Amino acid sequence: MQVNGTPYRSIWLEDDEKSVGIIDQTRLPHDFLKVYLKTAADAAVAIQTMQVRGAPLIGATAAWGIYLATREDPTDTGLRASCENLLSTRPTAVNLIWAIKRMKKRLLSLPLNKRKQEAKLLAQKICDEDIEICHAIGNWGVNIIRDIWETKGKSSTVNILTHCNAGWLATVDWGTATAPIYAANERGIPVHVWVDETRPRNQGAALTAWEFASHSVPHTLVVDNAGGHLMQRGKIDLLITGADRAAENGDIANKVGTYLKALAAADNHVPFYVGLPGPTIDWTCQSGNKIPIEERGADEVLRITGQTKRGLIETVNIAPKTTQAANPAFDVTPAKLITGLITERGICTASREGLKSLYPEKAKSPQT
Ligand code: MRU
Repeated sequence: MQVNGTPYRSIWLEDDEKSVGIIDQTRLPHDFLKVYLKTAADAAVAIQTMQVRGAPLIGATAAWGIYLATREDPTDTGLRASCENLLSTRPTAVNLIWAIKRMKKRLLSLPLNKRKQEAKLLAQKICDEDIEICHAIGNWGVNIIRDIWETKGKSSTVNILTHCNAGWLATVDWGTATAPIYAANERGIPVHVWVDETRPRNQGAALTAWEFASHSVPHTLVVDNAGGHLMQRGKIDLLITGADRAAENGDIANKVGTYLKALAAADNHVPFYVGLPGPTIDWTCQSGNKIPIEERGADEVLRITGQTKRGLIETVNIAPKTTQAANPAFDVTPAKLITGLITERGICTASREGLKSLYPEKAKSPQT
């Protein structure tokens, strides 16, 4: 995607192949800062501190982290230690486990002198595949937006609500939830996006709004609690989110608050679709109640960071100093509240049967 007219991926290998570039997402929307990861430990820190975040990008960063590990210590012991460290960074996004397993399986089967080159090729492949997947999600998903537009007699804008950031910053490019929106925008279908701010870390306000502003997609920021009201007043035609993990029965885990939006959508007959890349499906997980939910630090709830009028980035308290806070980062939306899953292979119902129809090979052999 473009940043001030320059095309970017959210992660890339530098030309000298000694470091991996990322955009520090903790600094957006105020600063556009590139950071260079030189070691597998750097990659783990970037994931943990959320300089990179979003399920597909977490997977891609882990893959590049393992490439960096092959530069440091390509032995079985060295690679296994780096994989364990990367695995421990965040628990909910299954793409992390998926990418590490894929890299580990391939690299450990090779002699030491072949590992670095193969790690580079495979990490690059994981990124290229992610772009193709997201692009395909866009091509399938745009049909949903077009259908709504046509049903409205092509006379008015399609209003879409999204939660968190499932945009190009959360993937390698295009995004999952945003890919159909970008596709619609490119095809001249008029869209307007209601962007949930997404407390506590405000990925909607900081990242999704920044992406849409950069690509001239009409959008309006709303507080997380506004969605129900907007749906009741007929101001939302469609809800689209991403997912951090789908269970094989079609339940999905996504940023906390998604479940409440899905409930409001069901009550107001607003269709709810989830942009779901194949690597985000956990074929070993039978239902959403088995998905581990990350509990993050209380500070994210008790404080808020923003830019002052003088341009300084500052963090301030928003609760009494003695108040305790809980911070579950994700929630599970049951399949029955989801109208459909938009995958790279097509759109299916959120159900075991729906997913099996698109991924027959996975349903037979979940571990592969
Ligand atoms: O905690 P985050 O910012 O990593 O959470 C990200 C989300 O919940 C996204 O909506 C999800 O990963 C889908 S990304 C394509």
